[in-house]
Amino acid sequence: MKTVCWCVTVLLSSVALCVDFEDGGRLARGAQATFVRSHTWRNALGSKGSPLPLTGHGKVKRSEGSAGDSCGSLQGYESRLKDNTHTYAFNDLSGSVSLAWVGDGTGVLLVLTTFQVPFFMIRFGQSKLYRSEDYGKSFQDVTDLINNTFIQTEFGIAIGPENSGKVILTGDVSEGKGARIFRSLDFGKSFIPSDLPFQPIMQIAYNPENSSILTSISITYDLWLSTDFGHSWKKIHDTVCLVKWGSADTLFFTSNPNGSCSDKGMLELRKTSDFGQSFKTIGSRIYSFGLGGRFIFASVMSATGSTRMIHVSVNKGEVWNMAQLPTVGHEQFYSILAANDDMVFMHVDEPGDSGMGTIYVSDDRGIVFSKSLERHLYTSTGGDTDFTNVTSLRGVYMTSVLAQDGSVQTVVTFDQGGKWRPLQKPWNGECDSTTGDPDRCSLHIHASYSTSMMLNVPMLPLTEPNAVGLVLAHGSVGNAVSVLSPDVFVSDDGGYTWSRALKGPHHYSILDSGGLLVAVEHTPAQPIYQIKFSTDEGQCWHVFNFTDEPIYFTGLASEPGARSMNVSLWGYRESMLSQYWVSVTIDFKQLFSRDCGEEDYVQWLAHSDDTSDPADGCLLGYKEKLLRLRKDSVCWNGRDYIITKQPTPCPCTLDDFQCDFGFYRAENSSECVEQPDLKGHTLEFCLHGRKEQLQTSGYRKIPGDRCEGGTMPERRVIDLSKKCVSNLLRPELLSEAHSGSSAPVIAVVIIVLLIGAVAGVLLIKKYVCGGRFLVHRYSEMQRHVEANGIEGVDDLDVTEAGKTHYNDDSDEDLLA
Ligand SMILES: *[C@@H]1O[C@H](CO)[C@@H](O)[C@H](O)[C@H]1NC(C)=O
Ligand SMILES: *[C@@H]1O[C@H](CO)[C@@H](O)[C@H](O)[C@H]1NC(C)=O
Ligand SMILES: *[C@@H]1O[C@H](CO)[C@@H](O)[C@H](O)[C@H]1NC(C)=O
Ligand SMILES: *[C@@H]1O[C@H](CO)[C@@H](O)[C@H](O)[C@H]1NC(C)=O
Ligand SMILES: *[C@@H]1O[C@H](CO)[C@@H](O)[C@H](O)[C@H]1NC(C)=O
Ligand SMILES: *[C@@H]1O[C@H](CO)[C@@H](O)[C@H](O)[C@H]1NC(C)=O
Ligand SMILES: *[C@@H]1O[C@H](CO)[C@@H](O)[C@H](O)[C@H]1NC(C)=O
Repeated sequence: MKTVCWCVTVLLSSVALCVDFEDGGRLARGAQATFVRSHTWRNALGSKGSPLPLTGHGKVKRSEGSAGDSCGSLQGYESRLKDNTHTYAFNDLSGSVSLAWVGDGTGVLLVLTTFQVPFFMIRFGQSKLYRSEDYGKSFQDVTDLINNTFIQTEFGIAIGPENSGKVILTGDVSEGKGARIFRSLDFGKSFIPSDLPFQPIMQIAYNPENSSILTSISITYDLWLSTDFGHSWKKIHDTVCLVKWGSADTLFFTSNPNGSCSDKGMLELRKTSDFGQSFKTIGSRIYSFGLGGRFIFASVMSATGSTRMIHVSVNKGEVWNMAQLPTVGHEQFYSILAANDDMVFMHVDEPGDSGMGTIYVSDDRGIVFSKSLERHLYTSTGGDTDFTNVTSLRGVYMTSVLAQDGSVQTVVTFDQGGKWRPLQKPWNGECDSTTGDPDRCSLHIHASYSTSMMLNVPMLPLTEPNAVGLVLAHGSVGNAVSVLSPDVFVSDDGGYTWSRALKGPHHYSILDSGGLLVAVEHTPAQPIYQIKFSTDEGQCWHVFNFTDEPIYFTGLASEPGARSMNVSLWGYRESMLSQYWVSVTIDFKQLFSRDCGEEDYVQWLAHSDDTSDPADGCLLGYKEKLLRLRKDSVCWNGRDYIITKQPTPCPCTLDDFQCDFGFYRAENSSECVEQPDLKGHTLEFCLHGRKEQLQTSGYRKIPGDRCEGGTMPERRVIDLSKKCVSNLLRPELLSEAHSGSSAPVIAVVIIVLLIGAVAGVLLIKKYVCGGRFLVHRYSEMQRHVEANGIEGVDDLDVTEAGKTHYNDDSDEDLLA
């Protein structure tokens, strides 16, 4: 009976359209990869867009003058690469292969192949485990270490944090009630089997600060904890729905004291900081929660149960503030797109099944949010967003918007969400048939949304923090994202300028901190025998025939962190009747005859686009000069390469500040003026918690901004607490609750807060959703995007129209 119930819940929760705090970066490349071999998949894809072959002679020359010569400078590499190509054929027919790198720079790779036949509710399966110690050049079959147990691939290979060398595999022991895990402390050299006293529904989660401490939830929603790396387990709580490790050994989880986890909005948020010896309830009526940077966000159901809103805490849930974000209804969701210790990008879904919403960026307290981007594409069904942190340049993010005409268009921000604009048209890309107006032709990037739509896009955009400025992505050039066969585009300045690097879809990988790029053409219907590589950030590509016996290629694998020189091509070959997995590992080290020296690096100013401007390159209050490898240098950065950054502060301008709570920026002015509506009103929606927070000069530095001197806004401290004369939200009450650590008081306070929240709905609607609060510096971007969409309409009108529309929606929401 219990099993049946569980299945139903699982079904329900996976069908549910709105899950708060979906992790936008779910699809990001991690230390693990899974490849699937399948005939049908191959054939299905094969009929779609046929990628154009590379020019016959094996080299693509950049037609623009600048880098012409380097294309010819690399000669005679074939034999050197041939000597460093290692092929390993697996005597294995399994349907899927999962790879995981263990440790950093250890070269240890675990490969789990699984063959699985789903048969009613029982599964027949077989797993094999292989291990490599040389970056995948050779493997050892170590299946006997797991005693031929079938490993549940949906739980993957759980690799411990940092360089702990810990590995956990979760086996399926269908006869018993429990499961068996295999634990390794020595980078997968040996495994210790242990039987779990429960059946997990999630991957075993490591405490990020102490890899000996593990937690998991059972299929009966009990929370289990182990402090001895899975040897013994202790049940510490029941009816737990979601668990997450926070910092400093704190475990946060939601629980429903009355039983069902499907009763979202009725959950309690609890935490334990002593591994289950004591618990503290830090929130109730919780729908969901998320951790990001130093923030905890919880979406809390209103008393009427029809809407919910975000509360934020920066001290592990001791004190909560209501975030200045719109409330959402049943069918909507919130999502943290990206978060660090300074700030968070939050997506708030629009009412109705529009597939879009609004991005807000927070202040350093996570309380005051500024509207950053409207019409942001985020499908509620698949949970797909194109939001991408361009990790190779500070402050750069890309995503897609849904234009008025229904087309999907890519936009980029270079200042952490301040302004968004279309990407520049690549100098060597031609505008395709989607181009109506040649002035509006720009580059559009294929990301998660395209992959979810099954377009012929084998990889998401790729950036690495240590490959400065480099972005590789599939895209098309026109008015909007095109369904035609995409090409690979490269930017070497963090997304300001682009060039088309490869025709047709490819798999790609960054090696040697950007000093080497490799790519393999995506032709699922045809076996491949060539790999392309570039030593000049994608301008010239050389071709290497790595095999005489082509393989059906499924994916590239290189050690995460982009410092490696070894890359593996995974795929399979067909013999008479069967297929078998093959991995071909190429060590590119021998391509480079020398290590890079001082003369191989040149100085580069990040974010520079106008050299005559003294503030050129200033972003969030400072500019950074970096040393970058010259494009024509053919040398090895090495594993220990570190980026040399020289930051210099910029003088402050009013643009380095955002308006604080209760203030707004008037049209065409950088000055923050007091919100007149606040005068004479009791304001339920206030900062609370600590009294001093209620004092403000109206300006706050943008999170992470490091400007010095220059224009400082006039410091005229206003005590907002006089205006926040809400009898429901008395700061004293909260600080009492804070010092006295008793849970009941806090629960009471939270309930009080909620009543306050409900009472405040009208005002919040007015101030937040409709109001001038959101007319911050950030609302400028809106004009940018929309001014591009609607020609000849006055900026002011566009913005106003947008807002009125928003108001209407909110009012409907309120009446419902
Ligand atoms: C391996 O599995 C078999 C059958 O499940 C069992 O009899 C045997 O004891 C196991 N061996 C080890 C070392 O766990
Ligand atoms: C990790 O936790 C275990 C069990 O509580 C403890 O014995 C060990 O010292 C901890 N290790 C570190 C590095 O804190
Ligand atoms: C649990 O159920 C009782 C009685 O049905 C109810 O009074 C209480 O509010 C419920 N608690 C929660 C957290 O839902
Ligand atoms: C984006 O990525 C960079 C580099 O990894 C990181 O420092 C930054 O915190 C990320 N931004 C957010 C908002 O998460
Ligand atoms: C690689 O293969 C292509 C096509 O078969 C061939 O034209 C080319 O000469 C080969 N290159 C080398 C170096 O063998
Ligand atoms: C490539 O693999 C070899 C082992 O086969 C290893 O010694 C070498 O360090 C690896 N190179 C890099 C840059 O990781
Ligand atoms: C803002 O500036 C624009 C163009 O410079 C102008 O058309 C508009 O009237 C100005 N708005 C206000 C309120 O001054």
